Amino acid sequence: MKKILITGGAGYIGSHTAVELWNAGMEPIILDDLSNSNEEVLNRLREITGKEFVFYKGDCNDSSLLKKICSEHQIEGVIHFAAFKAVGESTQVPLKYYRNNVGSLLILLEVMKEKGIRDLVFSSSCTVYGQPDILPVTEATPRKDAESPYGNTKKICEDILVDYVKSKPGIRVISLRYFNPVGAHPSSKIGELPIGTPQNLVPFITQTAAGIREKLTVFGNDYDTPDGSCVRDYIHVVDLADAHVKAFQYLAEQGSDFYEVFNVGTGNGNTVLEVIHAFEKVSGEKLNYVIGPRRPGDVVKTWADTTKINQVLGWYPKFSLEDSMRDSWNWQKSLG
Ligand code: NAD
Ligand code: WQD
Repeated sequence: MKKILITGGAGYIGSHTAVELWNAGMEPIILDDLSNSNEEVLNRLREITGKEFVFYKGDCNDSSLLKKICSEHQIEGVIHFAAFKAVGESTQVPLKYYRNNVGSLLILLEVMKEKGIRDLVFSSSCTVYGQPDILPVTEATPRKDAESPYGNTKKICEDILVDYVKSKPGIRVISLRYFNPVGAHPSSKIGELPIGTPQNLVPFITQTAAGIREKLTVFGNDYDTPDGSCVRDYIHVVDLADAHVKAFQYLAEQGSDFYEVFNVGTGNGNTVLEVIHAFEKVSGEKLNYVIGPRRPGDVVKTWADTTKINQVLGWYPKFSLEDSMRDSWNWQKSLG
């Protein structure tokens, strides 16, 4: 069975991807320092799949640990999720973000080279597009200057991968540019675990409905959008996880020194108010929300053109926005 190292595999997207890899006949080997997750996730993965997971608690900036993992397992590919992702914090402590997000990629690439591991899927983000001039966003849409150190780490990592593959190191790489991941595993055993006050919309919605937050503030309703609130492309995390499986299957068919980028979204834009209404419909809860001022730096509208990933990887999303809201809500309720 093909073994895939998942850095950051105890996190939100990594844990869902671990499940989908198993379902597709690949064995995930998880490395996570638990800086933004916890070990209970491993028990939950076991409950969902009925499988034992190999887990290493540690830092993927630690090259000796990476080498140890590679000598204990015949690793054939890596998914590099491990990163810090809090946009606001990245403006306060940018070096922490550059060191972890960029530094870990460099170390990983060096170890992959030494150990002869060819395949890498990298977690990039729609943040590299900023506010696009033309919608929907294709992979050829020019990237904009990053709005935050976090966003810049994703751009820099993409650039490093492009330059590295050009140097013909014998590897094959796909960068997946995720749009807005939402939802949770339909079993409600794993999902997003924001630490402190959530910055992202959907966990804020579910925590408000659960009574943990008093109210949700909609950041602006006077934009040039169908109802005045901002537009995003909300992709169910299980669909997103499946895109990683498809990426590995595609990489296996490619020659050496290969690099491609794919958007991962639904291809649909939804406003903040549409998300709220979808949540209210599936949950039966009335959400306490108010309209507030615009959030500085917010992208007004963005959504993906998914033609490339549909046609090249044969990947299509299966979950609707309502499915995402239902699964996010069930997950929130499971937390008690
Ligand atoms: P997450 O914080 O839930 O998962 C990241 C995991 O990596 C965590 O479990 C954390 O403990 C671990 N980690 C961080 N640094 C580490 C290190 N040095 N060594 C080992 N483990 C480390 O985040 P997520 O939402 O699952 O995001 C996964 C990836 O996807 C990140 O690279 C993120 O930037 C990217 N991404 C996320 C979103 C989003 O909105 N969630 C959107 C686009 C891209
Ligand atoms: C979504 C919409 C808000 C909270 C983030 C990261 C970005 C990338 C994608 C990782 C926006 C509105 C939110 C609230 C609200 N992640 N909102 N009230 O802005 O797309 O970006 O995720 O790579 O780097 O910054 O996602 O969930 O913060 O916001 O009205 O309390 O919800 O204005 O329109 P965003 P988000």
